[in-house]
Amino acid sequence: MSSNIADLFKQGEPIEAHKLIRLTAPQIEEIGDLMQMHRPVSKGGFGSEGNLAKLARKPDAPMARELAPFFLAMAELTLAKGWGKDGPGKKAVKVWKAAGQQLRVASGDLATAGALADAKAIQAAAVRIQAACTSCHSIFKY
Ligand code: HEC
Repeated sequence: MSSNIADLFKQGEPIEAHKLIRLTAPQIEEIGDLMQMHRPVSKGGFGSEGNLAKLARKPDAPMARELAPFFLAMAELTLAKGWGKDGPGKKAVKVWKAAGQQLRVASGDLATAGALADAKAIQAAAVRIQAACTSCHSIFKY
């Protein structure tokens, strides 16, 4: 699901991507179902967590261009899903939103840096994406 949305972002079809996000987000029962996409390819994922770590160490423009729309799709789905009422309270809802927004902005930065093949900017964006993942996981991952 998030890879189809990522393809639409990549093809420059943000409106179609957002239509699919609106359709898909209510079908996500558990955030874990979405997060599994970050697993290694050998475990049925998109390999995005591993590739993100690689990108932060060694900038690679084609990989940045490949990953940016995927992270953007994940950010939009995470934001569209939101954190349910049964969560640990109002502060949690804020943290969830802030982490999703941070991921959205950093994914846009990664797309731009990849298009410009700007190694320093690619690395910086990858580190900011990792920070967004970590800020949410520090509260919600169990
Ligand atoms: C807005 C919150 C949020 C953001 C942002 C977020 N995650 Fe997660 N992630 C979670 C939660 C909650 C879980 C635990 C889900 C569960 O186990 O039910 C999780 C679990 C995971 C898992 C384990 C999934 C599994 O079952 O194998 C991986 C891998 C993961 N996240 C990667 C990432 C990466 C990479 C990013 C950044 C690109 C990211 N996450 C951003 C909330 C978030």
